[in-house]
Amino acid sequence: MTPLIIDTDPGIDDAFAIALAAGSPEVDLLAVTTVFGNVALSHTTRNALRLLELCGRSDVPVAAGAERPLVHPVPHRASEVHGGDGLSGAADTLPPATHEVGGRHAVTLMADLLRQAVEPVTIAPIGPMTNVALLLALHPELKPKIGRIVAMGGGVRGGNTTAAAEFNVWSDPEAAHRVLSEEDVPTVLVPLDLTHRCAVDAAWLARLAAGGRIAQGLHALTPSYVATYRRMLGEDGMVLHDAVALAEAISPGILRTTACAVEVDCSHGPGRGATIVDLRHHLPTTRRRVDVALDADTTAIGEFVLSRILG
Ligand code: BDR
Ligand code: CA
Repeated sequence: MTPLIIDTDPGIDDAFAIALAAGSPEVDLLAVTTVFGNVALSHTTRNALRLLELCGRSDVPVAAGAERPLVHPVPHRASEVHGGDGLSGAADTLPPATHEVGGRHAVTLMADLLRQAVEPVTIAPIGPMTNVALLLALHPELKPKIGRIVAMGGGVRGGNTTAAAEFNVWSDPEAAHRVLSEEDVPTVLVPLDLTHRCAVDAAWLARLAAGGRIAQGLHALTPSYVATYRRMLGEDGMVLHDAVALAEAISPGILRTTACAVEVDCSHGPGRGATIVDLRHHLPTTRRRVDVALDADTTAIGEFVLSRILG
């Protein structure tokens, strides 16, 4: 079993990502750490606790991390997509949490777990990369303990939050720059280009609704999210961004990657938060490369997620 830490801002697609990991025997879910993002940190943390409760995993420690970006003074939000509570206004349909956050900051918990780990740990940042950037900055000696970072973020052909920037990177471009361009930990980046191609359809949602307790609990969180994606897809369906990244964290190689240098636009102009992915991967470069997930059997990804959460 690969030890896994999920760093997250739940978030509806984060909810599917957590449930996918909780239901996957290939990984040992060491912790769920939270970050500001789709909604405020207090909400993302409460949602993480309740989602683990839904999944019967109240044994998994939860720690709260950054409540704002490294540099930008005001955190951005995506409550128009995820609802004011981060879960379509349906967070209260989840079982109340029977466990609480511990006293440790998310970065401290991650560092402690890495220090204790006897096998390389996968870290899956599926929100703004602030906590992971802080971890790498504060504890460079622990980098050899990280097997892979598998992050959802960025876009090769533009963004979803601005024309240029994807939400997670736009929320803290300086943190993403640190993780994607400055460090030397093996990293997979799962961008919008692929997550959109893995969109699930109305038939998938119907199978989810007919599933067991966990599947039905997740289905109850989807209405406003599905409504958002209806405008884009032209029919009922949704994009499972973060769960696509978790599929790779759980099953290495399920996504097809290309090693590319990635730069994050940290300017304060219209390109802020853009990921500039250098697809000229055949050219020699001294720049650090990350493995950008550009292709997959897209139907298989939806089936993989469903198979682990139907119950
Ligand atoms: C990312 O932004 C968030 O709204 C989602 O949870 C996902 O992590 C997609 O751009
Ligand atoms: Ca997220």
